[in-house]
Amino acid sequence: MEIQENYSLKDHNSFQVNAKARYFAKASHLEDLIELLQFSQQRKLPFLVLGGGSNILFTQDYEGIVIALELRGIHEEKQNEDYILVHAHSGENWHQFVQYCIQKNYGGLENLSLIPGNVGTCPIQNIGAYGVEIKDHFHSCVVLNTETLLTETLNLEDCHFGYRDSIFKNSAKGKYIILSVCFKLSTQNHILRQNYGAISQQLAADGIRNPNISDIANAVIKIRQSKLPNPKEIGNAGSFFKNPIVPKEQYLALEKQHPNLPHYPAGDQIKIPAGWLIEQSGWKGKVIGNVGCHSLQALVIINATGKATGKEIYDFSSLIIDSVHHQFGITLEREVNIL
Ligand code: EPU
Repeated sequence: MEIQENYSLKDHNSFQVNAKARYFAKASHLEDLIELLQFSQQRKLPFLVLGGGSNILFTQDYEGIVIALELRGIHEEKQNEDYILVHAHSGENWHQFVQYCIQKNYGGLENLSLIPGNVGTCPIQNIGAYGVEIKDHFHSCVVLNTETLLTETLNLEDCHFGYRDSIFKNSAKGKYIILSVCFKLSTQNHILRQNYGAISQQLAADGIRNPNISDIANAVIKIRQSKLPNPKEIGNAGSFFKNPIVPKEQYLALEKQHPNLPHYPAGDQIKIPAGWLIEQSGWKGKVIGNVGCHSLQALVIINATGKATGKEIYDFSSLIIDSVHHQFGITLEREVNIL
């Protein structure tokens, strides 16, 4: 295993920001990872574990060691006639893993097709799309405790999943590195989630009346491709902000001024699409210097010229936050990890 110095992270973050890591190495085995953590401990340097780099913004160079986690492998454990447990190592590409499950006719993850990133990072922010979140099919994960350097297994309850949230973003931040994730998937009588508006519309447009999991995945892929920029072509990290959740009273007050305000129930509160707030504030399609707000989905900030620095992207996001706050009295929260 090679440890490189002053390494450009441009190809390791989906924003394609040219930040540098003081040290960089790829960990393909657990032993590599442990060795790299010891390297960081001995030199008293911070470490950062990167999955696909699809939810991170480097606003400065990283003065520690960046570890690209490349543990690979998938194995299965039959439960009964209806369910199977599928274990995937962290370094597996998320979309390829979803495709693997669909080909094997394992149901559950099809609505989460084409989400960028790797298997190991999906529990951190409890990735979700089109009415499904990872927590709905999560069984457990194996983690490395960065203090003891021993492995532990965490189950669903241990992970405290919430909307784009988990223990890995809060009390256990930096404590664990996810080595593999186990999903509980159906092998027959799949529960199809096609109620999310855009999916049923897409299926109808394709003339599909009795969809299977593969049809749902294909519909999701078409919808995503029609709205979300491909990070390989235009640097971005998907949704830059979380959809804000506000008290009912605040929603009702806003609704008086904006009768067409889109909204979804979120417990006894109301979730409002940040994309709508940003669009109404005049940002959709706007470009300032190297950074822009995507013209088809205002929740996505793009590296418009490919030359943006992380600081420029961050400053652009601050302008959006100020503007939405001024217009609606709602403070947007960044979903992307800022470093
Ligand atoms: N909208 C606008 N203008 C926009 C974008 C959205 O008015 O430019 C409004 C529309 O009313 C639309 C509603 O927002 O009906 C919802 O939009 P969309 O279905 O695109 O979903 P979203 O709430 O903007 C969330 C996730 C996405 C996920 C989609 C689909 C968050 C932060 N984002 O976006 O996740 O793909 O739902 O389920 O929850 C990601 O996390 O990177 C991501 C792309």
